[in-house]
Amino acid sequence: MQDAFSEKLEQVRQECLRCDRCSLCKTRTNIVFSGGVPNQKLMLIGEAPGYYEDQRGIPFVGKAGQLLDKILDCVGFSRDRDIYICNTLKCRPPENRDPLPEEKAACREYLDAQVEILKPRIILLCGRVAVNSFIDTKLGITKLRGKWFEGPYYSKMMPIFHPSYLLRNDSREKGSPKWLMWQDIKEVRRVYDQMD
Ligand code: URA
Repeated sequence: MQDAFSEKLEQVRQECLRCDRCSLCKTRTNIVFSGGVPNQKLMLIGEAPGYYEDQRGIPFVGKAGQLLDKILDCVGFSRDRDIYICNTLKCRPPENRDPLPEEKAACREYLDAQVEILKPRIILLCGRVAVNSFIDTKLGITKLRGKWFEGPYYSKMMPIFHPSYLLRNDSREKGSPKWLMWQDIKEVRRVYDQMD
């Protein structure tokens, strides 16, 4: 089963390697297709690669990624075993600017293919850009985080803060972004553990 996913995902990755659907293909060093492991339980969708991700071709390997690993580890999730990680964009926007609508549209087919192949039971939407790609709302991430939404293929989706936001907000006090993230990831673990 795992091999069937891997083969299909590899086909999509090969397409991304050749992709020139938007101008980011001219400035990328590497495409950043996915990290973690293909699995049917847990997927995290971030925004777009930054400098370090572009250099290495792996999502969430910079400071924000290191914090993400710590957050996952707090509840016993490991990137090497439990989670598939990808982004709304596979190429880095210059100077880490927000993805443009045409870039998101050009890349959407790849993201949809990743979701369709894996059909994960839980999808974590990490930050505003990922949330806006799946939930049609004017509400900000602060109002949406920690809530469950119906996702594609009967999945449950939860918006969570982006770790780079947490890096800018250091407090761990009750009600702070870090504290809220801790509540959210514990809830994700609880629901994950209830799944067969
Ligand atoms: N931020 C993201 O949203 N994705 C990455 O891969 C790295 C930083």
